[in-house]
Order: sequence, then C-alpha cells, then structure tokens
Amino acid sequence: MTENEIRKLELTAAFIKKYYPFEPSVGIVLGSGIGNLAREIEVEYQVEYSAIPDFPVSTVKGHSGELIFGKLAGKRVVAMAGRFHYYEGYDVDQVVFPVRLMKYLGVKTLLLSNAAGGMQQDFQVGDLMLITDHISLFTVNPLIGTNQESIGPRFPDMSEPYKKLLIEKARIVAREEGIELKEGIYAGVTGPSFETRAEYQLLHLAGAAAVGMSTVQEAIAAVHLGLDVFAMSIITDLGIRKEANIITHEEVLEAARLAEPRLTAIFKGLIGSI
Ligand code: HPA
Repeated sequence: MTENEIRKLELTAAFIKKYYPFEPSVGIVLGSGIGNLAREIEVEYQVEYSAIPDFPVSTVKGHSGELIFGKLAGKRVVAMAGRFHYYEGYDVDQVVFPVRLMKYLGVKTLLLSNAAGGMQQDFQVGDLMLITDHISLFTVNPLIGTNQESIGPRFPDMSEPYKKLLIEKARIVAREEGIELKEGIYAGVTGPSFETRAEYQLLHLAGAAAVGMSTVQEAIAAVHLGLDVFAMSIITDLGIRKEANIITHEEVLEAARLAEPRLTAIFKGLIGSI
C-alpha cells in the first residue's frame, strides 16, 4: 500500500462526506446474488461506483455496483451492493479499497457475505454458514507491499479474524429467529474456475467447510485496519458429492437468492445487537 493510496482514500472519503455528512458505524458487503438486504435500508444517500472518484467499477453479473448509506436496525450503515473480486483482474489494493474507505468514513464493524461451495457431508444447498475462521493461503494477501503504519501494523495478528463476540451474537439471533446455522472454516481461492473434485477434496482435508472467491482479502484488510469482522456464507453448491457435479454461476445466484431472506434476518438482528 503506497502513500498515494492513502491520499486516494482521503480524497474519496472527503468526496462522500460532502454528500453524506454522517458516520456509518457498520459496513456491509453483499455477495453474489445477495442484494435484498440493501432494500431494507432506510436510504439516506446512494451513489454508483462509477460516480465515485478512484472507486473500481464492478463487472460481474448479479452485482449492481453502488454504495448505499442509511439506517438499518437503528444503526447508520453503509452497504456495498457488488464487490470487487481478484479474478476480475483488479489488483488486491483495488479489491480492498472499499473496505479501507469504510474505515475512513467511520465504520467500526464490517459484515461480509458471500456465496460459497460447501464441502461438509451435512451441508445442503441453501444452508447458511457462519464463518468461524478462514484459510487464505491460496490467494493473494492484500497487505503485500509497503506497509503504512498509520493504517495498521506490518504483521497483523490473525488469531481471531472473525470476532467471537459477533459470532456469539449471531448464534443468538439465529436461535431467536428459528434459523438453522451451520458453522465452519471458509477457504478463499482466486477463481474464476470452480474447483476440481481433487481441489474440493484437498480444501476439505485442510479443514475448510466452504470455499469461495471473495471475503478473505476484505477480512484481512479489515483486521489490519482494526475493524471487528463478521462473515457468513450461503452454500450455493456442493463440491463433494457422489453424483456428477456441474456447477454454474446461474445456479449459484439462484441458490443465494433463495437463502438470502434468512441471511438478511441474521444481519439485521446482529446489527441491532451491536
Ligand atoms: N467454489 C468457489 N467459489 C464459489 C463456489 C465454489 O464451489 N460456489 C460459489 N462460489
């Protein structure tokens, strides 16, 4: 991360503050096929990525590409509808730019969501999985390069990337709402090809319950910034199963859409409890 990157963050934050003078305390990143949560926000300001100086522009189907500011469950939030993936060709600084911007805008807690492939025997398409930890060794670390001490430490501790307190609160919300939650480790990969049978097996052997092409870089950047992070996956396909297993992006989006109301209920309950 260069000094120029800090300058960009300062300028972009100043641009947004001209239109939205409040400080959102919670940042939300909506994954593939997970856009409805944004509709629950009492919108105060909404801006397309293409209108924000220095902001990358989203290219993936199912991502609308805007920042939405407003109130949700009594808190001021900023939601990213559409995120940036490494596989789209962005460099990692661009992938995590919005998360860093959120910190500059006042965010303290970051909630991440994604669509992921399941690898546990007892997982089904449509399950929600609370992410307890991650494996990020198969993709690029967003902190490679010069470190800016004003942003965070050179060697950040990653022993609790997803805050135990938030995990505990989410379990309580799920119980109260009667929503079943699976839990497990998320493995981050670059994509964009889905995994081979051998790769799903390898990740499963390594202890991962789900695999996806996002989230880990945002989580690392957020921990580096000192944010509290919470993350949840919608299991949209099963990587390990006996029968032939052809996975399509359309199937992933459809499964995410069906499971989304439960994810939204948990995020709302969690935000209310922070
Ligand atoms: N693998 C990687 N990324 C994914 C998958 C998967 O099976 N499903 C949704 N995103």
